[in-house]
Formats: sequence, structure tokens, C-alpha cells
Amino acid sequence: MKAELINKSASGIETYTIENDNGMRAEFITFGARIFKLFVKDKNDNLVDVVAGFDTPDGFREENPYFNAVIGRVGNRIGGAKFTLDGKEYNLYKNDGNNHLHGGKVGFDSRMWTAQILGDDSVKMSRLSQDGEEGYPGNLQVSVTYTLTPDNALELKYEAVCDQDTICSLTNHAYFNLDGTFETVLDHEVFIGADKVTVVDDELIPHGELKDVKGTAFDFTTAKKIGKDIKADEHMIEIARGYDFNYVLRGEGVRKVATAYSQNSGIEMSVYTDRKCMQLYTGNFLGGLKGKKTYGYQSAFCMETQGYPNACNVPEFDSMTLEKDTKYTAYTKYAFDIK
Ligand code: GLA
Repeated sequence: MKAELINKSASGIETYTIENDNGMRAEFITFGARIFKLFVKDKNDNLVDVVAGFDTPDGFREENPYFNAVIGRVGNRIGGAKFTLDGKEYNLYKNDGNNHLHGGKVGFDSRMWTAQILGDDSVKMSRLSQDGEEGYPGNLQVSVTYTLTPDNALELKYEAVCDQDTICSLTNHAYFNLDGTFETVLDHEVFIGADKVTVVDDELIPHGELKDVKGTAFDFTTAKKIGKDIKADEHMIEIARGYDFNYVLRGEGVRKVATAYSQNSGIEMSVYTDRKCMQLYTGNFLGGLKGKKTYGYQSAFCMETQGYPNACNVPEFDSMTLEKDTKYTAYTKYAFDIK
């Protein structure tokens, strides 16, 4: 294995690659600390790029739905784009109607990060999110370390520390299609070890209510095709035009929380994390954007590990407050096998 810098674009975006001994290869760019390409072997031993994106690193500067980026300072929606911390109200940028989504106008996905090669199989991307950036308090020093393991997994380790109390909840917005064709994900089989989802209002904001998934269209506790119940007569699914929901994961600590499988390629992806929750998003806002492929409606899915969304406004949810000088850490692993 060897991690190396392979390109620097005219606009200054660096591309790093890591390859393992099985031929699996990942590329990362410093714009948004994004996963640029992720080549996994399919059942016929062909390398398939399973993440969405553009042909060039500069392509990601174009308007796009957070393709494979690190999302922060807070992932998902913050209702009313405000929160109160230590008795003070903070107003965030409204980039989703009346709400704040995925870090605001210029979130972590659209900032330049500084890369550092760590050993043969890791690349660490870091940046300083300044006090007041997008309305958030405190200078937050943040990093994500991507590691490609010998057993075909991509590990993401997040770290952050702030010089004031703040809120922080990081994720990666990778768009997957395990066929690499990005035609549809409705035939992908998904399992999610979660008995509850957070109920959302018509603006997709959770307010504290949880719903049992058992026996409903939201239930992935037994693997089923994404498309099986995606047209169910459920108000939340109609509003979201598919799945775009936060699952409250079983168990705690690092554990396997979800799988996705495509019979066509034989590729199975398993998601491990230490987070409490995961957003299943089925690309309901995709509408034909052209990049490496043309990304139509429901041609990709995301499994965004996270804390409870909108927790800064919902006392019943586990807090997303990051206290001054306290270390935030989060771990996620996407592992690939042939089945
Ligand atoms: C997240 C949200 C979706 C959508 C996408 C980006 O997954 O939950 O509603 O905003 O990001 O298009």
C-alpha cells in the first residue's frame, strides 16, 4: 500500500490516492475533503467506482448535492436555522427554506482542507473553521483521516476541538451505487439495524418524536430492496419523495449498523460506526446532474452516520454540544465484500 499525492489542479485542489494489495483504490481531494473515486472489485474481478462525482477535482466546485464531502460543522437540518447555547441565541445561514442544512452556505464540503499523508495507507485532511463561520461559535480545528485497510474497508476518523463551547456533528455525504452504473438503487438490498426513525415535519425537521419501524415501509431490520416499499402510502415518504430519514441505531460503540448489496455486481457494503444514528437518503433530489455519470432520481444512496439531527433544539435528543477544549471523535467504516 502507498498513499501519495497524484495531482494538483490549476485552482489548487490536491488529489491523493491510496491503494491496497487487492487492487482496491480510493482517491480523495482537498476541496471538501471529498472521496473522489472509490474503486472496489465486483464479482467478476472488475474494478467498479462506487461513488458519484465529477471527472475532475475542479468539477466539484460546480453546484452539486454534497457529493462525498465531509459535512459540518453540523450535518443534517437545524430547524429555524438557530439554536441557543449557554444562554445565547445563534443564528445560522438559512440555505434550506427557513432552515440550516449541512453547515450552511459554504459548509465544510466547499472549503479547502490541508492534506497530510500518514504512513502508507492513510490521508488526513484538516482545516480551521473560524469563530462565526456560517454563524457557529468558536474556532474549531477539525480533521478527518481516511484509511484504506488491507481487508477492503475505508475508515473515516473524525476529530475536532474548539476554543469555545459550540455544536458539532460531522458526517460524510458519500453517494453510492454498488453497480457503479448509477442507473438506479431501487434494486439494492438494504439492512439497517434500527427499530426507530425520527419523525420529521413537512420541512424534514425532527422535533423529538420517534416512530417504531416494525412492519412499516421504514423497516429495514430484515434486508429488503430499497424499491420495495418506497412508494408506500406514508406521508413522510411522500414529502421526502423517497427515504431521507434518520434511523436510531441499535447498540452502542463501534458496531455493524447497516449493509447494502447489489446482486448485479455482487458487491456488499457494510457500515460500521460508533454514532447513534444514520440517515438513509435515496437520492430523491437527484435530477439528471452530469458528472462521471448522469445522476438521475434515486440513482444513488447515502448512509450518513450521525448524531440525532436538530439535537441542538430538541432536549430529548442526545446533545451535540461540544464543550470548549474537549475532543470530538467519531468513527465510521465502509467495508466491501463479494457475496
Ligand atoms: C441530505 C438531506 C437531503 C438532501 C441531501 C442533499 O441527505 O437529508 O434532504 O438535502 O442531503 O441533496
